[in-house]
Amino acid sequence: MCRRIQLFCCRVGKKPRDTVLTLVLCFARIHPPEFFKKKYGVDEAHYVTEISSVLASKKPAVLLTLRGVNTDSGNVSKEASFEGISQFNVNNKILHPEIAECRVIKTDMELEVLRYTNKISSEAHKEVMKAVKPGMKEYEMESLFQHYCYTRGGMRHTSYTCICGSGENSSVLHYGHAGAPNDRTIEDGDLCLFDMGGEYYCYGSDITCTFPANGKFTADQRAIYEAVLKSSRAVMKAVKPGVAWPDMHRLADRVHLEELTRIGILKGNVDDMVKVHLGAIFMPHGLGHLLGIDVHDVGGYPEGVERIDLPGLRSLRTARSLEQGMVLTIEPGIYFIDHLLDQALRDPAQSCFINSDVLRRFRGFGGVRIEDDIAVTATGMELLTCVPRTVEEIEAFMAEGQGSAKSFDCLSSQKQ
Ligand code: GLY
Ligand code: MN
Ligand code: MN
Repeated sequence: MCRRIQLFCCRVGKKPRDTVLTLVLCFARIHPPEFFKKKYGVDEAHYVTEISSVLASKKPAVLLTLRGVNTDSGNVSKEASFEGISQFNVNNKILHPEIAECRVIKTDMELEVLRYTNKISSEAHKEVMKAVKPGMKEYEMESLFQHYCYTRGGMRHTSYTCICGSGENSSVLHYGHAGAPNDRTIEDGDLCLFDMGGEYYCYGSDITCTFPANGKFTADQRAIYEAVLKSSRAVMKAVKPGVAWPDMHRLADRVHLEELTRIGILKGNVDDMVKVHLGAIFMPHGLGHLLGIDVHDVGGYPEGVERIDLPGLRSLRTARSLEQGMVLTIEPGIYFIDHLLDQALRDPAQSCFINSDVLRRFRGFGGVRIEDDIAVTATGMELLTCVPRTVEEIEAFMAEGQGSAKSFDCLSSQKQ
């Protein structure tokens, strides 16, 4: 067993990033330190029992340890420590923003792993779409997803607890937790919103597919689904380096409001709806987030990037401008959540835009989310996720997939 600890040694007068020396600490005797030096591509590898003496022999001006707040979870990372550390000059402030920044921009090798996690997780989602039938339990689908990821992809873990919401549960954003463990029976006529991602070598994926349990969208399900797909694809078209992520959130919101007006749930001027933040009633979460070693990856709010304290926008896990090499989710959704709808209906500034008769039809509808993972390129983006996305693709895939092993051609899908 070998453990890379978050401890770095650096010399004075140079940037920490240029001079870090990674120490891999080995506990097992099966392989010599040289093996781990090569395996992890580090400068030196030593046994953990030698840590104090090895570091002392290097006479470092300062030891940098990793301590800092994760702006997403609020958790504080635990810095490395060892017997004898008190003899060194230790600084636990410098490293955290540097490491976070390294994690925001992915290397080619990291991208390769993220392509792999997406490939296997996409296949696993398709396996679920082929298998689902009314009468099954939500957790059967969770189990199938995990089984596929592990048996076919060697992915032992998922990046987060699977969210397998059917029917009204599809509007519960973090459904699937211990208090609501994907244990409902899926019914005919339900929409399934399955948000699941496998993890490989600590790198995650985060994919949501929404589809009808019986393989055929109703007219209302199709209308809401296509509204969300439209916002997803509008964002994908706009994504490129330099674009501000909050503007992408605003774009998705605007498409939703336009489409909800076209469907008849809303009425009036979309610019005026935007002014009263009506979009956040239907999409009460952020458009997407950085993805990597954490599913909600670090680095969303470095110094100088402020959270926007407005409905919807305040839920964004990053407000940065996009840069080549960033990996993010694009996950717009429209949900019909009773307490938010009631809140909007009580507020005259918002209720004036709502056709309450039409809205009533959508009570209990649940929700639709379409979540893809993308990498920002020099001129736009690369779509990492590969699952059926249009209504036609989903219906055809489920119809044929439930009989035989239907393949799905991502390249032709992405051209749409
Ligand atoms: N699966 C968690 C998220 O979509 O952010
Ligand atoms: Mn997700
Ligand atoms: Mn996500």
